Amino acid sequence: MDSIVVTGGQPLAGQIPIAGAKNACLTLMPATLLSDEPLTLMNAPRLSDIRTMSELLKSLGAEVASLQDGKVLALSSHGPINTRADYDIVRKMRASNLVLGPLLAREGHAVVSLPGGCAIGARPMDIHTDGLGKMGADIDLKDGYLHAKAQGGRLKGAVIDFPFASVGATENIAMAATLAKGTTVLNNAAREPEIVDLVKCLRAMGAQIEGEGTSTITIEGVDRLGGATHTVVTDRIELGTYMLAPAICGGEVELLGGRIDLLEAFCEKLDATGISVSETQQGLSVKRNGGGLKAVNVTTAPFPGFPTDLQAQMMALLCIANGTSVLEEKIFENRFMHAPELIRMGADIDVHGGTATVKGVGQLKGAPVMATDLRASVSLILAGLAAKGETRVARVYHLDRGYEHVVRKLSQVGARIERVSDT
Ligand code: UD1
Repeated sequence: MDSIVVTGGQPLAGQIPIAGAKNACLTLMPATLLSDEPLTLMNAPRLSDIRTMSELLKSLGAEVASLQDGKVLALSSHGPINTRADYDIVRKMRASNLVLGPLLAREGHAVVSLPGGCAIGARPMDIHTDGLGKMGADIDLKDGYLHAKAQGGRLKGAVIDFPFASVGATENIAMAATLAKGTTVLNNAAREPEIVDLVKCLRAMGAQIEGEGTSTITIEGVDRLGGATHTVVTDRIELGTYMLAPAICGGEVELLGGRIDLLEAFCEKLDATGISVSETQQGLSVKRNGGGLKAVNVTTAPFPGFPTDLQAQMMALLCIANGTSVLEEKIFENRFMHAPELIRMGADIDVHGGTATVKGVGQLKGAPVMATDLRASVSLILAGLAAKGETRVARVYHLDRGYEHVVRKLSQVGARIERVSDT
């Protein structure tokens, strides 16, 4: 297993290119199952989660070719489709559940393993299954697998009122509805940019769908979808993470491909802490203003609110701000597992349920720390950039799931960071 070693205290300067969004790509890839014509995805990120989804789709009979060093994915599902998604692959990544809607829409039945435990909370699938149930699917749980069957062999349109704006449920059911008989209306749909991206791709494939980016998405089912070529939207979470790098250790960095509209709530909080963000011709430029960092309160929320996927990284910044910040996690229970690790680096954090109170300490100190999930691990790297001395982050396989070339991207702006083998 590898670790990442960061030596803090180096101000950063230069440019970081931002990749295509992991979370968009993971929902665009299963859309291949909706058509027997080719789907080409440009600007794909090079990540282990993308390889896991490729493996899953291949196990279902799809063809997936990774071209141009992984930046282009050529997908095709023209042959016979296997409708069983095995636990062995699904357990590696919750987003595997995004094959359920497309398989059910195309074949009228599917057997998909439940993803199982996850470090950041229970993450059930009831919103997905209730919605598909409204569309005429009978779904039973047997031996850890969801066995789903569309009554009469084809899903039918329905009005679905989501109890919570679940990202995955909106994606799964929007995909399923493209081939259903009749009209589906999704109320309280998630509004994330990754959903807007999925809808654009589905439309390019011939889907009759509108309302993306609002709380109501309407889909008129069609008999078949065609092929498409689609460019994956910028990864707003990778963008926000690297915006925090010059914020936390000084300097100025330009994020190539960055867009404020992807991260407005996050940019407002950065502004309140004393970080300046400006638009450039190629993206966004971020630097710390003259004064020190100010404490701010942050509450995570579905888009357009502050993203839960940037909460851990923001906490790393607030550890060294002047004053006390309160972070409230409203999307996932148990998403403060980075806090004890930050405390090992000298942070002053008190966690009670979904609330973390962070008292700024001015200076963190390097320490050996352990990554517990994807966003937690990158928050420890950010903390390491600001800390005095050396920080060694173990279990970095979490990082490989969601950050391509993290060492290369941070070294090229002057960070002292390397990946070392523990064996
Ligand atoms: C997606 C993102 C993830 C992000 C999250 C919230 C992908 C691959 N992952 O995850 O990075 O952190 O959105 O922005 O896009 N829930 C239920 N029942 C369900 C579904 C969800 O109770 O059927 C709960 C979850 O346990 C969680 C909350 O709803 O507490 C949010 O989940 P959801 O929006 O579905 O997130 P994901 O799609 O899993």
